[in-house]
Amino acid sequence: MSNHIFLQDERLVVLDQRELPFREVLISLKSLEDFVKAIKKMAVRGAPLIGIVSAYGFAFGIKEITERKGRLTAPDVERIYMKLAKSRPTAFNLFWALDRMRKECEKHMEDKSLPERLFSLARSIHEEDIRNNMTLAEFGSNLIEDGDTILTHCNAGELATGGYGTALGVIRRAKEKNKELKVFITETRPFFQGARLSAYELHKYGVDFEIVPDNHVGLLMERGLIKKVIVGADRVARNGDTANKIGTYMIALCANNHSIPFFVACCSSTFDMSLKDGSSIEIEERDGREVISMGKKWITSKSYKARYYAFDITPSQLISSFITEKGIIEKPFEENIERLIGR
Ligand code: MRU
Repeated sequence: MSNHIFLQDERLVVLDQRELPFREVLISLKSLEDFVKAIKKMAVRGAPLIGIVSAYGFAFGIKEITERKGRLTAPDVERIYMKLAKSRPTAFNLFWALDRMRKECEKHMEDKSLPERLFSLARSIHEEDIRNNMTLAEFGSNLIEDGDTILTHCNAGELATGGYGTALGVIRRAKEKNKELKVFITETRPFFQGARLSAYELHKYGVDFEIVPDNHVGLLMERGLIKKVIVGADRVARNGDTANKIGTYMIALCANNHSIPFFVACCSSTFDMSLKDGSSIEIEERDGREVISMGKKWITSKSYKARYYAFDITPSQLISSFITEKGIIEKPFEENIERLIGR
């Protein structure tokens, strides 16, 4: 179904994104611990992909326990749910997918075919994500004009989803439709999702791009080199406040200052309709050592303190519109998100 995530020999095989773009290393996940570790350590990342991997992880976890104990209890289900849910707190797709899996599990608790049912639901979540990405990419590509120069941050491409991509999906679709475009990719310190992953993808699709250090955004905008910004999202509240990779807020502020349209591309599975606004979105804080090291190398003294918030919140006023599989969501967001996404 996708080259970076597929089932094979009773295992989930995923591409280890920490190794890209230099090596395409596949890793196999089977035990619940394998899944939790792959998400926490960012072998797999990106909100939609985290959701899909956790759905498969849930199915593998339930299968493992049923085979070992010969039966399944409600506390077992809760333990598996919580282990996966705690892996990365900001991505809403994780909870969205796990809730669907838990519901299915509770409905068929006594059923012998429960593991197969769960695998089949995980596969549907995966397939649905690819379909939705392609639909939103089609909508989004209509917003791209010939000659556009687009800035994107982090990686919201095929690698971050079940397949095809959201923000990069829009760019990819526009390229497929032979639109003339150029992309600036922020390197996205400290994990370099931009320089390593978005660049790897755009290179594959033959899109003209340049990587820029994160601190170049102001100058590029001031010089008129950016016509549009398109980013993905990890969680969107009911009023449109959006959690995405750290640095997104700064880019949105800058775009707003220069009257540059700022688009958020994401599937409806990223909208957390339980949240009135972005103030209660939990921001993941990662180990500061990831800021002062690059792979196995220290870039400064390892005795120095460092801080690493993985996401920030862009207030909805700075967002021009949302590109989703249900259509383009314009302002007023509160009303239009409720109408188009409302679950
Ligand atoms: O820390 P990451 O790499 O998981 O963060 C990813 C992002 O912030 C993406 O922009 C977001 O998840 C959307 S991916 C379609």
